[in-house]
Amino acid sequence: MKKAVVVYRSHSGVTRRYGEEIGAFLQKHGIEAGVASVGDCDFATLPDADYLFLGCWTSGMFVVRQHPDEPWLAFVREMPQTKRPRVGLFTTYKLATGSQFTKMRAALAGKTNAPEIELKSRGGHLSAANEAAIVAFLG
Ligand SMILES: Cc1cc2nc3c(=O)[nH]c(=O)nc-3n(C[C@H](O)[C@H](O)[C@H](O)COP(=O)(O)O)c2cc1C
Repeated sequence: MKKAVVVYRSHSGVTRRYGEEIGAFLQKHGIEAGVASVGDCDFATLPDADYLFLGCWTSGMFVVRQHPDEPWLAFVREMPQTKRPRVGLFTTYKLATGSQFTKMRAALAGKTNAPEIELKSRGGHLSAANEAAIVAFLG
């Protein structure tokens, strides 16, 4: 059975819900998926994961300067280099994700494989398009 780890940073709960929906969708597709916040994630679960989904809410000035917040960046700084899993990114937002994914990718450079998908949601629910993107990503 393939394994996935879904790690989220959520300020008010929306990105947590999105991470949980991603985890539930992966389970439905026969993947053993664990979902944890950046504070609760056990680094020991990362090296043998097949897929790693990393998510953070979008913070910024709403139209510009979007970026992952400090707890997410601190998690990435502290995580060991993890080159086995294929990586997906996710975020929730209100208006525009702007530079959010670019900043997430920059923080992850050298730590993980380059992210292959970017998922975003306003309400923290998986859309049909999100589901199709995940299915294509899983291959
Ligand atoms: C301080 C602050 C800054 C935000 N900046 C942006 C932004 O730049 N662009 C945007 O689309 N949404 C922005 N949002 C909205 C959040 O990204 C959105 O509500 C998100 O779903 C919150 O996720 P969470 O419930 O997991 O914390 C901001 C929210 C806050 C509180």
